[in-house]
Amino acid sequence: MSSKDTDTREAFPTDAPAVVTCGLPYANGDLHIGHLRTYVGGDVYSRALESLGQETAFVCGSDMHGTPIAVQAIEEGIDPEAFALEWHEQYEETFPKFGVEFDNYGHTHEDANRELTYEIVERLESEGYVDEKKIKVAWDPVDEQPLPDRYVEGTCPYCGEHARGDECDEGCGRHLEPGEIEDPVSTISGNPAEYRDRTHKFFKVSELADYLDGFLDRLEGTSNARNQPRQWLEDGLQDWCITRDLDWGFDYPGEEDLVLYVWVDAPIEYIASTKQYTDRVGIDEYDWEETWRDDGEIVHIIGRDIIQHHTIFWPAMLEVADFQEPRAVMASGFMTLDGAGFSTSRNRAVWAREYLDEGFQPDLLRYYLATNGGFQQDVDFSWEKFRDRVNNELVGTVGNYLYRSLLFAHRNFEGTPEAEVSDEVERRIEEAIDDFAAGVNDYSVRAVGTATVELARFGNEYIQREEPWNLVGEDDEAAAQVICDCVQIAKAVAVLFEPIAPSASEELWEQLGEDGSVHDVTTDAALAAPPRDFGAPEELYEKIDEERVEELNEKLESRVAEAAGADGNDGEAAETESDEAEADAGSAMSDIEPVADDRISFDEFRHLDLRVGEILTAEPIEDSDKLVKLTVDIGVEERQVVAGIKQLHAVDDLPGTTVVIVANLEKAELFGQESNGMLLAAGEGADLLTTHGDSPVGTKIR
Ligand code: MF3
Ligand code: ZN
Repeated sequence: MSSKDTDTREAFPTDAPAVVTCGLPYANGDLHIGHLRTYVGGDVYSRALESLGQETAFVCGSDMHGTPIAVQAIEEGIDPEAFALEWHEQYEETFPKFGVEFDNYGHTHEDANRELTYEIVERLESEGYVDEKKIKVAWDPVDEQPLPDRYVEGTCPYCGEHARGDECDEGCGRHLEPGEIEDPVSTISGNPAEYRDRTHKFFKVSELADYLDGFLDRLEGTSNARNQPRQWLEDGLQDWCITRDLDWGFDYPGEEDLVLYVWVDAPIEYIASTKQYTDRVGIDEYDWEETWRDDGEIVHIIGRDIIQHHTIFWPAMLEVADFQEPRAVMASGFMTLDGAGFSTSRNRAVWAREYLDEGFQPDLLRYYLATNGGFQQDVDFSWEKFRDRVNNELVGTVGNYLYRSLLFAHRNFEGTPEAEVSDEVERRIEEAIDDFAAGVNDYSVRAVGTATVELARFGNEYIQREEPWNLVGEDDEAAAQVICDCVQIAKAVAVLFEPIAPSASEELWEQLGEDGSVHDVTTDAALAAPPRDFGAPEELYEKIDEERVEELNEKLESRVAEAAGADGNDGEAAETESDEAEADAGSAMSDIEPVADDRISFDEFRHLDLRVGEILTAEPIEDSDKLVKLTVDIGVEERQVVAGIKQLHAVDDLPGTTVVIVANLEKAELFGQESNGMLLAAGEGADLLTTHGDSPVGTKIR
């Protein structure tokens, strides 16, 4: 083990330039809100870094090469370049509409990327890290053509699940080398494939095992990204095939009929895109070479299906080519829609464009995606949950606080009263700034968001407690004091909420009579005096009503039904199109744990006293992300039970729910609360077990 650990890294902000990157989207289809999660996360994170005063570039680009593009383009009968460019342009337009504002958004089929890619590949060669090997590759014997990557599907040799050429997307999530997939079948012709000998280039990743071991010790970010690669390292690294028999991509230098594997040139676009940013703004503004060749803070934000590429292959390439290694990798969990996978082919998705066409503010979705669970947790989206969080938190807590306090200030003082901020409020704002900074350093976009919502919650309590409406005319000085505090809190909310809700924060900034953009200030501004005069405020967030939710759900349902109908007529086309959909839906299954080896006897099972119960009351436990305190009627008595189910349940909806309780579990204490029994729930989403008949409370379950 290396002696270095994460504590030795200097906390953000540091003096070095940072770069935040988001996984490059394949330019091959429409974006839905599930895709947006990592991009919003990346945008929030880079804005938050900047708010701390960290010099930061935020870059991304479209992934134009590889079989995900080629296969799709063949299907549509279009040239891959034209096909990918069209989607690229669409992504470039769509991201900013969600406030996802990259400093540079390039694509992999550009000269900037080509040059850097060749530089790095030649370096791998000259350092002696590239080998040639004769291997078996999948081949269509009828169409007489090679079948790289997504041209074939078959069975994963590691876990036995259905997989596509280069990744086990429905099972264990591993990268698959050419020739590894079992029972390969062409996705183009449907012909069973055979294996043929071909000579390919390999990057000798196995020789970098020691380096990677140390790298993983140093790596920061979410725990999934830091821990999963350990296993791959322990299992032993294989060399990595970096060429393909394909005619779309960058040619391998000096080899006419081989192209580079897409996963080589794709991450290099992170560097190329940063370079394009420097080329545009000038080296004094941002120096890409200092970041990538010297001492930059590199933070990669990705989906958890591509952890291996970012924690093994990519750092290995960077190391050999003498570039700076990533400081952190943040890997997000997957998203589901109403509890099930997004599916492009079944039209079971909330499309990015659709969300905007419905007229919703982008900030609402940003808030939901950034805070509805930790970054690495799987998150479910439903219009109901979306409405609840918007109405309760954005409208009810944040918006309500801002509107009532600023309206009061405007009516009684035409702005900020002449007074000093109280010690109590100053300390509370400092605490929020600390929470915000801790969120950044913990790689938690959720913590960045909740820091501000909690501050607004405090604001509401404060104004309620101090009752300035009773002070005006009675004790004007005291009233001025309270309102001065309230305006300061509002200003702090504008500053600290900017990463999550950039448009609403900008509007609030203006309402406060501030000059310039809230985007350009740092967290210090949260404590700087607000302007003296401002006008009447306007509400920042709009409530979503019940009918709206019903309408949206109906739209979704009828769309899915329609696609299912179309499927029946044209089954084949729908099937081949489902690649990506299956990735979305199927990846959620890649975490299935194996069934325990050791069997228990029936007698052991009998010792479990499982009962039907009904939740009577539910309240969240403060300071805990997950826990809810419940009273549960189990027939014989009422029990207090603490359960980790806050994330995916609206606490107010819990009373009345029929649940299953382990009634004879030892008592436990959680967050200072006694828990007398355990609620059964499935998975990370804490899907509650229930009964489906009308068994009365207290019924024993066998
Ligand atoms: N296009 C890839 C995907 O969607 C991600 C590429 S990320 C990069 O899975 F690191 F290669 F850039
Ligand atoms: Zn597998």
